[in-house]
Amino acid sequence: MFGRIAPRYDLANRVLSGGIDVYWRFKLVEAVRRARPRNVLDLATGSGDVAFALQRALPAGTQLLGMDFCQPMLDQAEAKQAARPSPRGAIRFQQGDGLNLPLPDQAFDAVTIAFGLRNMADRARCLAEMRRVLRPGGTLFILEFSQPWALVRPFYNLHLRKLSPLVAGWLTGDRAAYEYLGTSIGAFPGREGLSSEIRAAGFPTVSSSAMTMGVVALHAATR
Ligand SMILES: C[S@@+](CC[C@H](N)C(=O)[O-])C[C@H]1O[C@@H](n2cnc3c(N)ncnc32)[C@H](O)[C@@H]1O
Repeated sequence: MFGRIAPRYDLANRVLSGGIDVYWRFKLVEAVRRARPRNVLDLATGSGDVAFALQRALPAGTQLLGMDFCQPMLDQAEAKQAARPSPRGAIRFQQGDGLNLPLPDQAFDAVTIAFGLRNMADRARCLAEMRRVLRPGGTLFILEFSQPWALVRPFYNLHLRKLSPLVAGWLTGDRAAYEYLGTSIGAFPGREGLSSEIRAAGFPTVSSSAMTMGVVALHAATR
């Protein structure tokens, strides 16, 4: 599914969110910057937008690895990097499955995952894998759709279940992928539920903040 939408994934993101997805990723990157990591894994990197934002915000020399199991998404990320090489050094993009990361234990100061955890076939296993590759004291940052405030829910559901598939179907030619988006967001836990799952995966400290009336949440958890 992600392979099919990859060529127009960025455009659909900007249009469907009205551009606010750039702000959500900015808030994630600000949180990562405060943790001062020397190396970061961006899992489910897709077309690389979080990895590129990290590259702009973190000190030159910070090692960045973008990983995804979908090669057409990584091709988009590589094409963007080739078109705009950064003087701060290249991001390494590598194919890999979030349920079985081809990476050594305790290798990263920080792991980020933006709009990726919801798509993992086994969330607990992905959380365990992200914990495994984090150093003790390292931080996991999860940016993901959440459950919005009750007041805005009817409008949000209309946007998500009716308008988005229509508009995104027109933009990407794949309406089904954006029907899945609404279904997967509806089935995803709210902030408290996700915090419990993260704690159960072996992260003793978890904090979370809501953005845009609870539509999106940022969780940070220390191993
Ligand atoms: C909605 S996109 C998010 C991309 C990017 N992080 C962003 O902020 O735009 C979800 C990504 O998760 C990836 N993904 C889903 N399951 C995966 C898995 N098991 N391992 C690695 N990547 C996976 C998909 O290929 C897709 O690129």
